[in-house]
Amino acid sequence: MKTLVTCALPYANGPIHLGHMVEHIQTDIFVRFLRSQGEQVVFLCADDTHGTAIEISAEKQGITPEKFIEQVSNDHQAVFRDFQVSFDLYSSTNSPENQHYAELIYNRAKEAGFIGKKAIEQAFDETANRFLADRFIKGECPNCGTKDQYGDACEKCSATYGPKELKNPYSVLSGKTPVWKTSEHVFFQLPKHEAFLKEQLAKPGFMNPGLATQLQQFFKKGLADWDISRDGPYFGFPIPGETNKFFYVWLDAPIGYISAAEVWAKQTGKAKSALDFWAKDADARIIHVIGKDIVYFHCLFWPSVLEVAGLKVPEKVHIHGHLTVNGEKMSKSRGTFINARPYLDVLDPNYLRFYYASLLGPGPEDLDFSLLEFRQRVNAELVNNLGNLANRTLSRGGDHLPKLGKTLSPANEALGGQLVRDALAKVKDIAAAYGAFDHRQAIKLILEIGYSANQFLAKAEPWKSAKTDLEAARGVLSEAAEIVYLLTALLDPVVPALAQKLAEQLNRPKLTFKALQTATYPLLDRNVPIGEALPLITRIEEAVVAKLVIAPKEEPKKKEAAPAAAPAGPAAEIEFGDFVKVSLRAGRVLAAVKVPKADKLLQLSIDLGEGAPRTIVSGIAEAYQAEQLVGRNVVVVANLKPRALKGIESRGMVLTSGPGGKDLVLLDPGDVAPGTEVK
Ligand code: MSP
Ligand code: ZN
Repeated sequence: MKTLVTCALPYANGPIHLGHMVEHIQTDIFVRFLRSQGEQVVFLCADDTHGTAIEISAEKQGITPEKFIEQVSNDHQAVFRDFQVSFDLYSSTNSPENQHYAELIYNRAKEAGFIGKKAIEQAFDETANRFLADRFIKGECPNCGTKDQYGDACEKCSATYGPKELKNPYSVLSGKTPVWKTSEHVFFQLPKHEAFLKEQLAKPGFMNPGLATQLQQFFKKGLADWDISRDGPYFGFPIPGETNKFFYVWLDAPIGYISAAEVWAKQTGKAKSALDFWAKDADARIIHVIGKDIVYFHCLFWPSVLEVAGLKVPEKVHIHGHLTVNGEKMSKSRGTFINARPYLDVLDPNYLRFYYASLLGPGPEDLDFSLLEFRQRVNAELVNNLGNLANRTLSRGGDHLPKLGKTLSPANEALGGQLVRDALAKVKDIAAAYGAFDHRQAIKLILEIGYSANQFLAKAEPWKSAKTDLEAARGVLSEAAEIVYLLTALLDPVVPALAQKLAEQLNRPKLTFKALQTATYPLLDRNVPIGEALPLITRIEEAVVAKLVIAPKEEPKKKEAAPAAAPAGPAAEIEFGDFVKVSLRAGRVLAAVKVPKADKLLQLSIDLGEGAPRTIVSGIAEAYQAEQLVGRNVVVVANLKPRALKGIESRGMVLTSGPGGKDLVLLDPGDVAPGTEVK
């Protein structure tokens, strides 16, 4: 049976960022694992190219939408290639194949009686001569009055509403007040699919059960018809039989999964058409990987559309969580919106692949790209544990073992049998973990194997015995090389380039998960010599990681950079009532690190008795070493509004006395519990 695996199709209106890479890396790991198992997999993606936003971006650049999406597609593809994402094809939804399938599916739905029409009222910009989607109309929130809120929800008070409820609405395109016009729209009648969907959502393995339960809530409220049309001008496919109406981008976007398969079939000749995968009775399974923000489209609309069209419904929709950076939503103003290309400019993609793998579980939980943890994990686990194991074992030309050459010893069951068998015993669980998108469990087990092999070397100390008994040292290293060989298969899904280097050093092709199903000790044919030692992977330096988070050039600042040391001197009198507004509390420092590129700043993690610790950036780095501070009690202004300092959100301020710089002393609240009020 063939497997078709897809990632969600990235919008063609912006660059790929590290959030997207969460999806593409985890899916690539899954796909590489399946291939290593010997399965027949086709891994497809495409750019999602339609809609008003893309058309308007193109207009701003003075180019056609076609030219615009071509440039974006080239950038996207280059990024994915450089991150070693192994697509079999990267296509586009703006293709004749996609138009063909969009029309085919629409016509089938229409014939089957699942398409209706309704007049709707919509904002219209008479200057731009366009209907305005909710995101193209702004105004004052009907709930709290905040200005410049979008037509669907308020960012200040989180109220949701319709665009007509906005006060003083204006068009984002022209700034003019929109008028309200009615227009007849085409609807897909989702409520008719309720019974089918209920059954589909309950199918074991189809989707995360918690999220399936959440979707069930929609059935209680009642499913609504889905508006699949937009009035022209609109960059998309015209709806057959209608005038100046186009398919809404979300109708033809998932159809891109089908048309990409069609293009792949044509280009490679490895299938007759997309229907080799998508026909109801095709000998294939389909697995989609998506983020939790687009579940509604993939688990309600898409299966219903496929069912109506008589096509195959996906076996599984794997849903992942969202990436945060340093514990916060990615933010352009804090400099934590990290695009993929700038990452590649300074760091090896294998680091990120490894780091994401070590965090990703099978569920839709969010994951954090903490600069500190990223560096520490990669250095400790990938470089120290696994990288050093390979270096110690294979660098026979290095300082310790100059005379060993490339010859391996004959297998020595008494010496290495147990080590290798214990490692092989974990392979089944590692395979099961990769197959279930539980990449962090796979990494955990691989690290255990690496750890045992390092222990084995540390105990046998071949670098010492080499001085007196070269053959004994060769014997030990040859057994350790078995584990390095095993790693060429185990690590291949996650860090394929590294696995390849290991294989080259061993002078053999990589092992595969398929071969490992029947493998026994010894794994290595000891008569085949090993190859040249190569530099494998280096540690990540703090200075390099710091380059990832670059706050955009800030407007001339209201003196905010140095939080400590206010100038001494008489301050204006304030009312007692003003003073008591300040909440002072005792806190305990749990962790402290230097803020990259800021000589004066330390990032502190402080327990204020609130459960989760707070991050506070403090200008005390010249007066205190980070390590000195851990465990120490401090006085904190606890109700200060959060501020961004060097791209880090600081929630509160630590009190000091002294003129500043080196001469600062932290105020000590005494030996009290975190959270205690200071009065
Ligand atoms: N174009 C639609 C998908 C159409 S699929 C038929 C879209 N595009 S997107 O570019 O916004 O997102 C593409 C994928 O990246 C989605 O699965 C989305 O969940 C994922 N991510 C976007 N930002 C993300 C994070 N910050 N973290 C993890 N995944 C994120 O939606
Ligand atoms: Zn509001």
